[in-house]
Formats: sequence, structure tokens, C-alpha cells
Amino acid sequence: MSDLEGLAREVALCTGCPLHHGRTKAVPGEGPPDAQIMFIGEAPGFHEDQQGRPFVGAAGRFLEELLASIDLTRDDVFIANVIKCRPPGNRDPLPDEIEACRPFLDRQIDLISPKLVVTLGRFSMARAFPNARISRIHGSPRKINGVLYYPMYHPAAALHQPSLRRVIAEDMERIPELIEQIEQIDESPPPMEAEQLRLF
Ligand code: URA
Repeated sequence: MSDLEGLAREVALCTGCPLHHGRTKAVPGEGPPDAQIMFIGEAPGFHEDQQGRPFVGAAGRFLEELLASIDLTRDDVFIANVIKCRPPGNRDPLPDEIEACRPFLDRQIDLISPKLVVTLGRFSMARAFPNARISRIHGSPRKINGVLYYPMYHPAAALHQPSLRRVIAEDMERIPELIEQIEQIDESPPPMEAEQLRLF
């Protein structure tokens, strides 16, 4: 069993926060263990909870379209979430739930060691860009501890606000160019400094 499979098994058995009481299936994430690009969403919804797989509902269909626009399929990338069990009624994840799940996501990023981590939505963005506003920083990459993070709106945002569809599609289209330029992107200053320098 690979380390990632072992981790997925731990996730399936996890009782680290109350969300395990209501889950049908935990959703550890999926994709090649050596994926160059990792997408991190927020939390499983109804369909993900039923199937134990990330992004298999309406937002997932849009994500697949976006991937196709840069000649990728979901089998080319690793897709995970900030929390691995569905919150009741799809409410926002609570800080304690995010903390309880954090070690799993940290380990996934370490094991996969992707060239690019694309954060989808504000909960995922907050890992790398605490206190930032997604409307300001979407589409602005930042390297932290050797990992390049790229914040994007959550695909579900476009389902509620159709004008975001184009914004999300444009941010997605920049990904191939970012992968090419990765070596030239410098490590970013710590968040406070970045804020003071008005980098975003
Ligand atoms: N939204 C997410 O953030 N993750 C999923 O897996 C599905 C929908």
C-alpha cells in the first residue's frame, strides 16, 4: 500500500471531529501520486459524500470543463478538499473541523509534492493566504516554502454568479504558463510583509 493509500484509509476511519457521525463516505481525494498540479476544494457535498470521491457533482462538471480547456482531465491532477467529510446541509466548514483535518492535507501536499497547488475558494485559499480577499488575489501565484500556490474562485461560485465563469476560466487558462515559469517565480515574503508591500 502506498503512503497516499494508507492516508486515505486513515481518513476513512477518522473520528477526529464530529463530522464523522454524519458521513456516508469520507472523501480523501484522488489522483496520480506524482501529479504536477493539485486542486484543493472546500468540502464534500451530497454526491461526494455518497460516492467517496471529490468534485463529482455540478461544481465537478465545471471543474472538468475547465481542465479540458487546458488539455487536462481529472486523471491528470490530484483533487482534494480542505475537509474530508461533508458538513451537514453543506454549511461552511468550522475552524475546528479545518484544524482537525489539516494534518491530512499537509501530508497529502508533502507526499505528492506538486509543482502547483491551486486553491479553489476562500477556505482553501486561507491556508496560503490568510486574511486575503479572494476578489483581490485570485489569479496571483505565490511561492511559500518552495510550493507555488495559485488562488482561484471555487467553481461552484460560477453556478451562483454566472459572471464569475469567465474570470474562473481566464485564471485557469494561465496555469500552463505558470507551470512553465515555475523556476523563475521567487519565494514570496511572509504575509504581513506582502500586505504592507501591497503585493496583491
Ligand atoms: N465542492 C468542493 O469544495 N469539494 C468537492 O469535493 C465538491 C464540491
